[in-house]
Amino acid sequence: GFLESADRKIILKGKDILDAIDYAEVAHVLFAADKLGLFKKLKEKKTFEELHKELKVEKAAFKIFLNGLIAMNIIKKIGEYYENGEAIKELIETNYIWTIKFNSYFRDPLINLYNVVKKGQKEAKEIKEDKEGYMAYAQTMSSWDEITPKILQYVDLKNAKYMLDLGGGIGHFSIAFIEKYPNLKSKIIDTGEIVELGRKDIERYKDKILLEEKDFLKDEIGSNYDFVWASDILHYLNYEEIQHLMSKIYLSLNPNGSVAIHNFILDNDTNPPAAAVFALTIPLLITKKGFVPKKKDLVYILKSAGFKDIEAKNITPGTKLIIGKK
Ligand SMILES: C[S@@+](CC[C@H](N)C(=O)[O-])C[C@H]1O[C@@H](n2cnc3c(N)ncnc32)[C@H](O)[C@@H]1O
Repeated sequence: GFLESADRKIILKGKDILDAIDYAEVAHVLFAADKLGLFKKLKEKKTFEELHKELKVEKAAFKIFLNGLIAMNIIKKIGEYYENGEAIKELIETNYIWTIKFNSYFRDPLINLYNVVKKGQKEAKEIKEDKEGYMAYAQTMSSWDEITPKILQYVDLKNAKYMLDLGGGIGHFSIAFIEKYPNLKSKIIDTGEIVELGRKDIERYKDKILLEEKDFLKDEIGSNYDFVWASDILHYLNYEEIQHLMSKIYLSLNPNGSVAIHNFILDNDTNPPAAAVFALTIPLLITKKGFVPKKKDLVYILKSAGFKDIEAKNITPGTKLIIGKK
């Protein structure tokens, strides 16, 4: 999916193109089944009559749909009973079933790619109405288990007491930082529905993590921070907004404080490939104004805001960590 584009097969060779076209069809079948709630129901064996009643579907079409799913090995039928196929069972067991919802959530924006390319980024569509999809999206934001240890290795907060987590989502990174550094407290600023989702996740850290519902561009972001963390937020902003935000961050920091940015960042127009591919997904299709910044531009913006000793590290094939000191 989108945010995993770092691990995803994005450089096509030979027959990959034909496979991709075939699988697009399979993906749409999976999205429909998931949206109908079929996989959830088929955790237990069900007869056709039970399923048809519980899912409130049109009988004739549903029958044809189920037969196709059986033929594809997505579900199976033993005697009168339907149940999930092995691959779906495994997705549920390994807790990866949300990847279907997540990719389905981005299906409409992707279909809209044609329009955006034809008429421009203003044609992008925000898609926050779908609560379940947004939950799946929020989950991917914090499914960065391989990323977090690397970040913790490069970000030293021994002497930090108070940090700000901009666009911190459901608090994944704040939690990792305060767990490693017992003297540290964090404030998360985020907007919209994510705040509601995040509240539940950080409830048990309420002495150490404060969640504020604010717009980090328009509202004031507070001060006296030793560290400001900005992960995966830059591609929501245009160039001027990045400049504005970096100056705001600089002013909010204590002397000797530091900022760390983690994002898809380009070295040049087409490299790294994972960043160039990511650029045509969320930034182009959803944000209406965001883009994937180039490293040299970010370094320039950080320097202009007053930061020094700027360092960059590669984190995933498409993302980098950039650290600057006040
Ligand atoms: C892709 S998520 C990243 C979440 C988290 N930082 C992480 O790396 O896992 C981007 C977050 O930025 C938030 N966001 C975007 N623009 C914002 C703004 N102007 N003010 C506050 N939050 C914003 C979104 O609501 C979303 O939760």
